Amino acid sequence: MSEIEKQYPFIRACRRQPTEYTPIWLMRQAGRYMKEYRALRKKYSFLEMCKNPELAAEVTLQPIHKFKLDAAIIFSDILIPLEPMGVEFEFAKGEGPVFHHPVREMKDVERLKVIEPEEEIPFLMESIRIVRKELEGKVPLIGFSGAPFTLASYIIEGGYSRNYVLTKGMMYQAPQTWNLLMKKISEVLIRYLKAQVRAGVQALQMFDSWVGCLSPDDYEEFVLPYSKKVLNSVNKSVPVIHFGTSTSALLPLMKKAGGNVIGVDWRVDLGEAWTRIGYDVGIQGNLDPVVLFGPVDLIKKEVKRILDQAEGRPGHIFNLGHGILPNTPVEHVSALVEMVHEFSSK
Ligand code: CP3
Repeated sequence: MSEIEKQYPFIRACRRQPTEYTPIWLMRQAGRYMKEYRALRKKYSFLEMCKNPELAAEVTLQPIHKFKLDAAIIFSDILIPLEPMGVEFEFAKGEGPVFHHPVREMKDVERLKVIEPEEEIPFLMESIRIVRKELEGKVPLIGFSGAPFTLASYIIEGGYSRNYVLTKGMMYQAPQTWNLLMKKISEVLIRYLKAQVRAGVQALQMFDSWVGCLSPDDYEEFVLPYSKKVLNSVNKSVPVIHFGTSTSALLPLMKKAGGNVIGVDWRVDLGEAWTRIGYDVGIQGNLDPVVLFGPVDLIKKEVKRILDQAEGRPGHIFNLGHGILPNTPVEHVSALVEMVHEFSSK
């Protein structure tokens, strides 16, 4: 990483170095709440946009042009590496992703391909190169992947799940199958994240969105070793954010798995969470995305509360607790970004 890159407030915060204000970016910052995104979506499907580097680059930059965000995140999806591994899916209207041939048995796991992302997902690497060029050093670019558990849960359940009965069923009843599946997914993620770094991303986030359904013991036994392997494979090259939701009981274990920064949702108090995680790593979060529906006074109060909890300590990256929701008023997003900068400025 160059000396200039090390000066970005976002990168400095990842490394727990002092910054002149608290940096902010928003999970899903490119998306349906923006009219520019919706206009493109009328012409192309979501996956078409992910697979077309020019379009993906354009969508990545839409929120950067509109708001004073401190980082861009490449436009893609955590599910993208699954298709070349041999698990096809589609986004069914109103249902989220649907996998028509879920992975349930040892023979299904054995069939999964451990891919070379530069060959199988070249469009993502090209999107990253285009965005880096167009950003011209304005803000750093974040790459990302899903975490082994969250991706395993999608392909075992066949889509979004409420109780994770099949996923936990495999963990408890067929540990050999589970371990081979997690091993294969982890190997792909290591290659996938390294390829993104080679293409030019300057930080990474690993999304373990659904890990909060696990007990601490199950997390430690069935998930932690795999997440750790993935996080440790990349954290020497760029800073890494390790994110999950409903993770209150898992925070010390998530820290043990790795990451320069732990991402938390609004179900925990950020100050308390940071104390429990320890100040030797950074923290990201944690405004409830629903607060952005307003009014502005509420947003102000919540921003102040979160900044107070962080106590101006280096290593806080402001974000939502989970992705920004469709229909979020755009003017509230601008107000949020400005408030965070203003209230935290030293
Ligand atoms: O943050 C960003 O702006 C980068 C782009 C990004 C998307 N998805 C774009 C997207 C990122 C980082 C993701 C991560 C992702 N994808 C996660 C982890 C974060 C989280 O929200 O928990 C998960 C679980 C997915 C899987 C996924 N992708 C689902 C369940 C859905 C359908 C539900 C929904 O929100 O529509 C998607 C689709 C998706 N991914 C959209 C976008 C902008 C909406 C597509 C559309 O235009 O219809």
